[in-house]
Amino acid sequence: MYQVLYRKWRPQTFDDVSGQEHITTTLKNELTAGRLNHAYLFTGSRGTGKTTCAKILAKAVNCLDIQNGNPCGKCEICRGIDDGSVLDIVEMDAASNRKIDDIRQIVDEVQFKPAKCKYRVYIVDEVHMLTTEAFNALLKTLEEPPEHVIFILATTEVHKLPQTILSRCQRFDFHRIPPRAIADRLLFVARREEVNLSDSAAMLIASVADGALRDALSLLDRCIAISSDIDEEVVRNAAGLARKTYLFELAAGVINKNTAKSLEIIDRLYSESKDMARLCDELISHFRSLMLIKSVKNPRDILIMSDDEYEESQTQADYLSLADIVYYMDVLSRAYQRMGHGTGDRTELEMAMVKLSSAEIDGTTEALAARITALEKEVKKGISSNYLPSESAEDVKKLKSESKKQTSVPKQTVQGPKETEIIESSPDIDEDRPVQKAPVTRPAPTPSANAVRTSANLEEIYRNAKPFSQWVDVISNLKPVSRAIAAAFSDSTAYESGGYLLIDTSNEMAFELLKNGSRREEIRKIILETTGRVYKLGPYKRVEDKKEETDPLETLKKGLEGSGIEITEE
Ligand SMILES: Nc1ncnc2c1ncn2[C@@H]1O[C@H](COP(=O)(O)OP(=O)(O)OP(=O)(O)O)[C@@H](O)[C@H]1O
Ligand SMILES: [Mg+2]
Ligand SMILES: [Zn+2]
Repeated sequence: MYQVLYRKWRPQTFDDVSGQEHITTTLKNELTAGRLNHAYLFTGSRGTGKTTCAKILAKAVNCLDIQNGNPCGKCEICRGIDDGSVLDIVEMDAASNRKIDDIRQIVDEVQFKPAKCKYRVYIVDEVHMLTTEAFNALLKTLEEPPEHVIFILATTEVHKLPQTILSRCQRFDFHRIPPRAIADRLLFVARREEVNLSDSAAMLIASVADGALRDALSLLDRCIAISSDIDEEVVRNAAGLARKTYLFELAAGVINKNTAKSLEIIDRLYSESKDMARLCDELISHFRSLMLIKSVKNPRDILIMSDDEYEESQTQADYLSLADIVYYMDVLSRAYQRMGHGTGDRTELEMAMVKLSSAEIDGTTEALAARITALEKEVKKGISSNYLPSESAEDVKKLKSESKKQTSVPKQTVQGPKETEIIESSPDIDEDRPVQKAPVTRPAPTPSANAVRTSANLEEIYRNAKPFSQWVDVISNLKPVSRAIAAAFSDSTAYESGGYLLIDTSNEMAFELLKNGSRREEIRKIILETTGRVYKLGPYKRVEDKKEETDPLETLKKGLEGSGIEITEE
């Protein structure tokens, strides 16, 4: 018969117990020193080893050949406890035996000497379930237990125990087991069970299990039912962790301030019968993950997601300030609270998304703060992107002289045709973003001589663009560096012109990546490594053939050049 893994692999010694060294070491020391207590209390969250340690301790106090504080597992007593022939270890589940009569039985029994063992051990699981009378009855025995009796009480809810009980026990708090310790135990069990478990799959199980080894082993069981080759994909299937692409899309809509896109996604999900309140809740969780990424030291350890998702979340978090994220979560949770009251859930969610995608509408302080950080970011971007560290000195000189030549207004800050400029002045990027284009609070940028000059320059650059064949190599070299970035550019093509690589893609995220200084640097580095050349980056724009705009007369004139025929325009 198949035995579930967590039963089969219940640790038999303290040394096998994972992640509770603060407890097992103390117990082993007490056992080797012969300093035993008569009442122990094991508390802590579910599936962390309380019952397991109680059983080991019950064996260890009676073992005839104790090994460094661990039960030997081989002596008459150890084997007798294992096969149930030794009756001096009494396990009682207080959840189903919670009345005073159940405890009275124990109280009467403790007077008698154990049959085979040195100590009769009572393991009372879920002790917080006892009735008040039952507690009182137990208390008397705990106050003056006979020499040959040991109580081990276990509970997940220590706050429900009366102080009188607490003060009579030596208390051990079981911690949530760290993901690495869970993963190691899973890998150990998998090896013994002869299944292939990848390390990243083990870590994913560990993060889903949230500190409980029993849950982790149950999930491993479910994975084994699917395949004996367990990778992250198998774990995701077994745990029902299907990747929620739409959450990333919705968040991207907010980041890009693309209201239309966000509403489209909501419409699609709605027609697929997605529950809107649930969607709102998931979105809050999504932003919470971004918040943790920004504020916690080791966010990878607490976030339940695959490496891919983590990387993409990191990318999104890069675009937001902590204040933005908190503001988003706040707007969404207020929408969530209102759901189910009057206005339809869908409308609530839509209103929230419109607010988020266009902070200008929202007059609250938080919204103002979000607007300010957005502005600050833009300013910072403007400064830091002037001269990128990887730009060669040559490049910089060229840019400087070029901009001097072309800047007609001397006071204008020195700006060559750099990538931010080409990016920001390109309609490709700001298209579909009405909010950014016409912000209510921001003064419309005054068209500068610079801008005019640049757009003429751009025409030229776009017009001369030639397909860039090494782009596929660049993307494949990006993959090992950042799968998220490589994915964003996967459907793109690139053109080369005047020191620029112009990228053609419909993926908005790709342009957002280009706008971020450090990401852009990463991409440029890979391009340099792949091609051996330093390029500036920008979006590609198809330039219409201007045939129709050229004067037909002019064309005719050109055609007749040198033929002796002359056309006059009168
Ligand atoms: N710290 C641990 N080290 C190794 N295995 C563990 C550990 N904790 C739990 N397990 C595994 O999970 C199973 C259940 O553990 P156990 O019964 O000790 O948990 P518990 O803390 O008593 O949980 P509950 O509060 O639900 O009673 C064990 O059989 C074992 O396989
Ligand atoms: Mg238990
Ligand atoms: Zn033994």
